Amino acid sequence: MADENKSNGKNGKVGLVEQVTTAVKEDIQALKTDIPTKAKEQIEGLKDPTKTQVYTSIFRHKHDDTPRNRALGVLSNVFLHLHPAKINRDAVRYSYTWGMGGITFYLFIILTYTGVLLMFYYHPSKVQAFRDVLYLEHDVPFGKILRNMHRWAAHLMVIGVWLHMFRVFLTGSYKKPREFNWNIGVLLLVFTLLLSFTGYLLPDDQLGFWAVTVGTNMARATPLLGHEGPFGSLLGMTPYNDVRFGLLGGSIVDANALLRSYIWHCIGIPIVASVLMIVHFWRVRKDGGISGPAPVVLTAEADKQRRGPKAAGE
Ligand code: HEM
Repeated sequence: MADENKSNGKNGKVGLVEQVTTAVKEDIQALKTDIPTKAKEQIEGLKDPTKTQVYTSIFRHKHDDTPRNRALGVLSNVFLHLHPAKINRDAVRYSYTWGMGGITFYLFIILTYTGVLLMFYYHPSKVQAFRDVLYLEHDVPFGKILRNMHRWAAHLMVIGVWLHMFRVFLTGSYKKPREFNWNIGVLLLVFTLLLSFTGYLLPDDQLGFWAVTVGTNMARATPLLGHEGPFGSLLGMTPYNDVRFGLLGGSIVDANALLRSYIWHCIGIPIVASVLMIVHFWRVRKDGGISGPAPVVLTAEADKQRRGPKAAGE
């Protein structure tokens, strides 16, 4: 019995070594024939790049102009996917949307881009802020156009967001199921105005200084939170601990106010506004796309609807 086991074990060992050797040999043989064939295939494929493995791993569907391929094109690409696969043609007419939501967003992108470039030249300190603006205006190559692109885009964004809101109101697009998105829109309007207001102080010129002085003075009268506002004194509000003090980082418009404006303007508000915009666009989709004008009805049909089913002989 012991002998049998021994020989089995020996045979088993030999068997395993043999198996591995043959497998390795087979693999080497396969590599010898496969690699050249694969390489040939790839080189051949380069003549038609759409057949290469790299190409097909990126573009996963055919490109003939069929509705299916167009839908697949949109659905399988993250950037195109930001757009819906199908839309109501009448809903996206400029005569209906005025393009104002899109233009507002486009201006926000320009503002972010030019704003980041401006940050390379601007220091939010009392000593340097105004000098940096002069430097940008007179010495930095393209500095004047950069600063003015930022300023004009800011003015236009404020106008754009109002016009967009006005069109949404005129087309009744705030009604069911879009009430929630209207509210997100109201927040976006507030944040757009706050971006504009916080940017006003940054050049540290007379205009900005007095605008922010007036603006933040209003905060004194905030109910409960301002020291001159209703019930403010009951809560122990003074010029040194009320909401105005919090906004300015002090009791006067000075270095701390400049720094706070800068941080709100460049970091805080843009982040919140970006998140709200993502929610806003997502809601447009979830609410069934842009609302669209009332469906076209033939005069005869409209007549029927007006007179009711009896008059129509139904
Ligand atoms: C930063 C500000 C804003 C941006 C970038 C923005 C962007 C957009 C875009 C691109 C659309 C698609 C339709 C279109 O272009 O008209 C849209 C739709 C809409 N927006 Fe805005 N929006 C902003 C502010 C507002 C405001 C202030 C309101 C209202 C208070 C609002 C309410 C709506 C509603 C209800 C829709 C759906 C309209 C429909 O289905 O017809 N949005 N927004």
